[in-house]
Amino acid sequence: MKIITRSLAIIFSVLLMGCGGKEEKKSDGFSVDRTKSTEKPVEAASAVDEVPASKRITLDEKGVGEIKSITLDSEINTEMAAAGEAIYNTNCTACHKLDKRFIGPSPRGIMERRSPEWIMNMILDPKLMTEQDRCAKDLLIEFNGAAMANQNLTVDEARSILEYFRTL
Ligand code: HEC
Repeated sequence: MKIITRSLAIIFSVLLMGCGGKEEKKSDGFSVDRTKSTEKPVEAASAVDEVPASKRITLDEKGVGEIKSITLDSEINTEMAAAGEAIYNTNCTACHKLDKRFIGPSPRGIMERRSPEWIMNMILDPKLMTEQDRCAKDLLIEFNGAAMANQNLTVDEARSILEYFRTL
């Protein structure tokens, strides 16, 4: 009887080892899953596009339009900024509010998310931008298709608004 019990025990332990072996194979399967999950950064890259356009940082994009390159002085030109503020108050506040999102996004902090060229191009030709620039296109969708009206400003006027935006 004892011999039978012992041999049963041996058989069981052999079976258990067998199972153990199978489990190892399973964990191989898991490591295959892990290699799958290393592909996720690609998905994450497309998830970046799911950040609303108004919150996206696109500082390396200059947009589409006549403004190709702008160099900002390290000091803000307060006279120019004051002129820009006046133009902003006349032409822009129907749709933009400093402290909240309105018909369009708030320009506060805009210098941290858009390049100066992009901002100037958006002010000077919003139609071209929303047709051809990816971020502006997405903004138009985010703001429910409300088109930013072209205020027919000169380059100097747009430049002074940009200077004002630097103070926000
Ligand atoms: C008729 C409403 C309207 C007026 C007026 C208007 N905007 Fe806009 N603006 C928008 C909307 C809406 C958007 C978002 C893009 C879109 O839907 O076309 C926008 C987007 C912008 C953006 C991009 C903001 C971002 O976060 O990227 C800037 C910069 C901007 N406007 C500046 C101005 C300036 C400067 C003026 C005045 C000269 C002005 N806008 C006048 C409606 C307007």
